[in-house]
Amino acid sequence: MVFILLNYKTFDEGTGAKSVDIARACRDVSESSGIEIAVAPQFPDLFRISSAVDIPVFAQHVDGIGSGSNTGQIYSRCIREAGASGSLINHSEKRMTLADIERSLLSLKENRMRSVICTNNVATTAAASALSPDYVAIEPPELIGTGVPVSKANPGIITDSVEAARKIDKKVVVLCGAGISKGEDLKAAIELGAGGVLLASGIIKAKDPKAALEDLVSLI
Ligand code: G3P
Repeated sequence: MVFILLNYKTFDEGTGAKSVDIARACRDVSESSGIEIAVAPQFPDLFRISSAVDIPVFAQHVDGIGSGSNTGQIYSRCIREAGASGSLINHSEKRMTLADIERSLLSLKENRMRSVICTNNVATTAAASALSPDYVAIEPPELIGTGVPVSKANPGIITDSVEAARKIDKKVVVLCGAGISKGEDLKAAIELGAGGVLLASGIIKAKDPKAALEDLVSLI
């Protein structure tokens, strides 16, 4: 099943009350297309969205800490209580050490939450796959936010990541991201072996996010 994860980053267009409008658009397009669309808003909007819309809500980051003296850190149980059912880990804009990635992953697993470890090349895809997350999302940093789709600019990084992950853990689903916005980008990603996409600006900053989502799923 194809999986689309929409990262809101800190775009104004997806902040506060607007975050719910975009989540509603995701719900509508998910219902009409039958494709799973999840959202990853900013932390303070997790509860607002999960209270209003019945689609999977992910955090953009989680720390591998437990109950205790951890001021300023993100606790997996707290995001779960806020309605999140998963989280990104190690996004290019929030990089972590391998040891911290593992700790964050374990905290999600303990709470039975879905995990998406982001990677920047094939070698890190292999390393992330060895930790057995649910998903690894390959995103070449130089293409993020450019509107140039990874599926066109660097298809080899997707096929090589899929192969690397398969060799290590067949259950890990590889997503790809960076510059994805159109139906042809998603179609190409699937044809290259990805199980879905992680995307942001092409939808969040679109004049009409719902129309952009409809276009995204139109060729699947
Ligand atoms: O997390 C998704 C992301 O980094 C890709 O961003 O704006 O190129 O879709 P964008």
